[in-house]
Amino acid sequence: MDTLFAICATYQVDDGHAAGFMLMRKEPDGGARPWPILIARKGNHFFGFENACPHQGSRLDTVPGEFMDEDGNFITCGNHHAQFDLDTGHCFIGPCQGQALTPIKLIIDDGDVCLSGIDLAEEDGLDIPEPDEVPEVQITSD
Ligand code: FES
Repeated sequence: MDTLFAICATYQVDDGHAAGFMLMRKEPDGGARPWPILIARKGNHFFGFENACPHQGSRLDTVPGEFMDEDGNFITCGNHHAQFDLDTGHCFIGPCQGQALTPIKLIIDDGDVCLSGIDLAEEDGLDIPEPDEVPEVQITSD
């Protein structure tokens, strides 16, 4: 089985939102190149794509806060308001209509969103702090 590489914990991507991550991917010549990806969430489903628009190759999250539509149903390009289907990455409106984002297979393992079968150049590129506190548990009685 391929090694799993944890990108983030599931709780770090809110329902109806997407988060971008910058990874480093190994090249066949031994070098490495930046590899921006995005992880979107709808309920308990997670969707991974390369964060590169099919029409310009640029990242979709260049405008902060506009990674998904306000109902959390579609990935959006903050610059051009193109919209992409969560399941397929297919662009149904915008300058790249008819094209699609490149999907990335995600595996949910023990509360983490993971990649598999991708040769990454480094494994410490995640810039997300661990939470300092465990959620408080309250015990109540009637
Ligand atoms: S970069 Fe392609 S729709 Fe915005």
